[in-house]
Amino acid sequence: MSSNASRLLEDPMGPVVSVADYRRLARRRLPKFVFDFVDGGAGDETTVRANTDAFAKVWLHPHQQVDVSKRSTSTTVLGQDVKVPLLLAPTGLQRMVRRFADLEALRAAGEAGTAYVMSSASAFTIEEMADAATGPLWFQLYLWRSREAIEHVVTRARAAGISTLVVTVDVPMVGSRERDRRNGMSIPPRITPRNIYEGARHPRWAWQLAGGPEITFANFTSFAPAAGGMALMTYANTELTNPASQWDDLRWLRDLWPGSIVVKGILTVHDAVAAVEAGADALIVSNHGGRQLDGVPATLDVLPHIVAGVPDHVEVLLDGGVRRGIDVLRALALGARAVLIGRPYWWGLAAGGQAGVSGVLDVYRTELDTAMALCGRPTISSVGRDLVDPGVPSR
Ligand code: FNR
Repeated sequence: MSSNASRLLEDPMGPVVSVADYRRLARRRLPKFVFDFVDGGAGDETTVRANTDAFAKVWLHPHQQVDVSKRSTSTTVLGQDVKVPLLLAPTGLQRMVRRFADLEALRAAGEAGTAYVMSSASAFTIEEMADAATGPLWFQLYLWRSREAIEHVVTRARAAGISTLVVTVDVPMVGSRERDRRNGMSIPPRITPRNIYEGARHPRWAWQLAGGPEITFANFTSFAPAAGGMALMTYANTELTNPASQWDDLRWLRDLWPGSIVVKGILTVHDAVAAVEAGADALIVSNHGGRQLDGVPATLDVLPHIVAGVPDHVEVLLDGGVRRGIDVLRALALGARAVLIGRPYWWGLAAGGQAGVSGVLDVYRTELDTAMALCGRPTISSVGRDLVDPGVPSR
């Protein structure tokens, strides 16, 4: 798979070997307003930068003379087998990059043996995604004001065989992303002379959208047909955001949903404890990739506090700024069960659809495997705090 993916992604600017190379490719292949929508964050983007910078501050302390001739990156997350502790984070509006982006990313995740978290703002329905899934499929939602809308989607998720809900709690309103505002970015994208020019300059991108450039919120068309073509951030007669939502709403969902619940958007022990008390089985330490509130800390920096603040049986995941295989190791050593990536798989989508996402996942897997060998940690269970803290006794 890896050689196919890299053959397809031979780039005139040089070989594509790292996740950063995929970003470079995506920057060239996408119109500016699309690239910026993916890449950008809130305010001055200090949190966006902090997320990646935090990893570079954590040093690895290898063990030498360990038999690493047999290695495995496999583990479990919420009892589900994954071949690599790296999941695809929920991201909406993927159709801005390619018509079939959501399905392509889902298939690449299945091929890599990991889980795909579908966004409630997907261009495909829960049923379409579940039919195409070859690996674990989780469904992300917000605690909308309309409980009827929530019941509608979770009933369908259950019927489609989805075991795990991801409840995103860091969007009481949408953050201010200044690149989008400067670019006049709207949903659906506005047909402006500038956007027409950008489309003409990127014919390959425009071609990929052929037959369906509209951004639909497919999961709500049967619930609220009028919302199918949909403007801005309102759908299903409810709002994407619910500024009135509180932990009690999670308790209500807990009673409704028999499967696992993962709460995404945790940055403090206070909220970690509240989420667990309200019924969360697992948490995702996340600042939404720095896209919501600028000025919050890097997720890696708060991770150890959250891990220490919740009972051991609560699995803690992390997303934000994971760009290398060694970043996965760093997060695991600091207590994460697994990590998720957002932007990097969009770069893969922009670079080459499903093959591009496979290429990105292969870079992470290969880097992680090499790093595990060089660190003397041949299995995921051998990765402990001592890998990042030389004062901690080895297990
Ligand atoms: C997101 N994210 C997101 N999160 C969520 O819960 N529901 C969603 O629909 C979206 N949509 C979305 C779109 C785009 C373009 C991006 C980049 C991100 C946030 C996402 O799940 C994740 O938290 C971050 O992307 C992780 O940070 P990195 O890996 O992008 O640095």
